[in-house]
Parts: sequence; structure tokens; C-alpha cells
Amino acid sequence: MVSIASTKGHQNVSMLGIGAYRPNRVVTNDEVCEVLDSSDEWIFERSGIRNRRFVSGDETPRSMAVAAADRAINSSGIDRAEIGAVILATSTWKTLTPHGAPTVAYDLGINGVAAFDVCAGCAGFGYALSVAADQVRAGSAKYVLVIGLETMSLGLDPTDRGTAFIFGDGAGAVIVGPSEENGISPTVWGSDGENASAIAQQYDLVEYMDRANALQGTDPEVEKVGRLAIRMEGPRVFRWAAITLPKALSNVLEQSGVSTDDIDVFIPHQANSRINDLMKKNLGLAENVPVANDIENTGNTSAASIPLAIEEMLVSGKAKGGQIALLLGFGAGLSYAGQVVKLPPAPVEPSF
Ligand SMILES: CC(C)(COP(=O)(O)OP(=O)(O)OC[C@H]1O[C@@H](n2cnc3c(N)ncnc32)[C@H](O)[C@@H]1OP(=O)(O)O)[C@@H](O)C(=O)NCCC(=O)NCCS
Repeated sequence: MVSIASTKGHQNVSMLGIGAYRPNRVVTNDEVCEVLDSSDEWIFERSGIRNRRFVSGDETPRSMAVAAADRAINSSGIDRAEIGAVILATSTWKTLTPHGAPTVAYDLGINGVAAFDVCAGCAGFGYALSVAADQVRAGSAKYVLVIGLETMSLGLDPTDRGTAFIFGDGAGAVIVGPSEENGISPTVWGSDGENASAIAQQYDLVEYMDRANALQGTDPEVEKVGRLAIRMEGPRVFRWAAITLPKALSNVLEQSGVSTDDIDVFIPHQANSRINDLMKKNLGLAENVPVANDIENTGNTSAASIPLAIEEMLVSGKAKGGQIALLLGFGAGLSYAGQVVKLPPAPVEPSF
């Protein structure tokens, strides 16, 4: 009888370090409204957004992911040679093939490690964090680098009223590894493919190629289909969120064995500050529990929004390393993922 070897890791895992990168170019609501039929007041009132950042100049998805990851590694104090896996949560890497994580690992000087992308929309960071924690627990990696990265500006239709004002670019990263006490709860996650069309690219790749081929030679028209732009039925997503997310949040608390009184900070995905304030109220979190509001100046950065929001809270002093935070990511899929975590220490090299 052949006996196949298994692995055994550490049950207690935590986020040991965090880093982020925010693109240099700040885009105000007024600038968005130079093309979009909207106003600064409407955008801020409905979404809580005043500014977002877009890549410019030499900045690329690759350079942002590497910068955020490098900062996370330095903040954690670990030897990068001990990283066993790199997980890149993104929906906006420029190519499906090759995927992004291997080149990011190469740039970080850790070529050769297991490296793969997780594509779960705005829930991507929560999914990747869950996989990373399970890897350390199972012993398939000692340390795992998790990066949330988005370049939403590359796939935006600047004239679309449902999406143009919402999204922004950025990257946030954490190192997940063994710790004395547990710092990452079981993940509560799920999806709703029945409603997946509520957040979707305008064309799939086949439709896009057909249209581009049919329109060859008429440059302005090709330009119109030149973007695999995202469309979102905002009110439909809002309704899904109102039903699904409160249940997810109470399940996270139950599975984590903590109560609302134990939560020091609430760091949900930065989709809309109205949704986040509503979730805090419905959950019965105390008035003085801070809620992440990175959306105001960063916009909705999809899979990057939670690590960026954690970093913002740590750098600005609204939260401290070691505090207990409730995380919840949600969006395309329609997918969600939530955890209770112990926050990592503030980054050594802040992104702003
Ligand atoms: C996108 C969102 C901010 C839109 O806000 P909303 O209040 O639902 O807006 P509606 O689409 O119902 O439109 C309300 C009114 O504003 C108008 N409007 C829509 N978009 C507008 C815009 N960009 N600027 C100005 N007016 C706009 C509509 O025409 C409508 O006008 P009417 O009342 O005269 O018909 C909101 O639906 C939302 O945040 N949804 C959830 C998004 C989300 O969580 N996504 C998940 C993750 S990525």
C-alpha cells in the first residue's frame, strides 16, 4: 500500500504586514463631469465619492502591484525568500494569458514561487485572503503574499452614468503567515450567478472580436467597441446587497465566535458609502465604531479596495494594528466574502 505524504501547517494565521500603492493622478468629480452628464453634488450624495485616482505616465497594473507588495513585505519584516505563494486578486490585468502573479513575483525577486490570479470581482481580496490563510494552515506555503490590484480606468466608458464616476485604480497587499494567536477567522463567502449580469462587461470577448472585425476600417466605430467596458445595474446590485450582505455579516460574526461589541473597526468594500453606513446601522455596531471611508478620495477600486482602506485607516490613525476588524467584500459574480481579522501593524512606508 502506497502512503502519499500530506502537509501540516499552522492553525493560527494572521496578516503580518500591509502595503499599498495609490496612483499619482487625482481625478475630481468635476473632471469626470467634463465628459459625463452628472454633477459633483449628485456623485457625492449618491456614492460618497469626491475623488479617485487613475494611472498615468509610467504607472501600470504591474508596477502598482509590485510597489504595494514590496511595501507589504518590508512592513512584515519577513525574508521574501520564505514566501511560498503569490495570489493576485484582480479583474483588470491587461491579459488573460499570461495571468499577472508570475510576472509580479519575478519583479519582486522571488521568481519561481507558486503564483496565480484570483478573479472574483470586488470580493477578490476576501477570496484570496481565504485561500492564503488555508494554504498556511494546510502547510502548502509558509508565507503567502496576497495582492488586490485594479486598473478600473482602463475598462471604463467615461460617458456611462452607471459606472464612470464610481471606479478608481490602486493596489493593496498583505503578507499572510503563522502567528501565535489566530488573526483570520473562517471565511463566509458565496455567489449568485443567477444575477451575474447585474455587473458585466458590455461585450464578451467573442462578441467584441466580431464587432471589431465587422467595423474594420472605420476607426471611430472601432474605437467605440475598443473597450470591454463594464456596465452595472446599480439599483439591482443595491437590492441584492441589501438582502445578501446583512446575512453574510451575521454569519461572519457567528463563525468567528465574536460579537458586535468585539468589533473595533468595520472595513467593508468601498462600493458606496451609503451602503456601508446602512450595513453598520443594521448590524447594530456602536456609534463610535469607525467605518472605512477610503471611497471618498480613492473611489471604488474593486479587489484593491479593502487592503487600501485598511492601509488608509492604519496610516491616518483611525485604526491600530492588533485591533479587531470586520471585513466584507462584494460585487461582480455576484460574489461576497467576509472575515473577522486582527489588523496588521501600520505600514512602514505609507502610500500617501
Ligand atoms: C450606482 C448608484 C450610486 C446609483 O444610485 P441610484 O440612487 O441607485 O441611482 P438610480 O440609477 O436609481 O437613478 C436615480 C436618478 O438619478 C439619475 N442618474 C443616474 N445616474 C446618474 C449620474 N451618474 N449622474 C446624475 N444623475 C444620474 C437617474 O436618471 C435617475 O433619475 P430620475 O429619478 O429622474 O429617473 C447606486 O445604485 C449604487 O451604489 N448601487 C450599488 C453599487 C454597488 O454596490 N456595486 C457593487 C460593487 S462594484
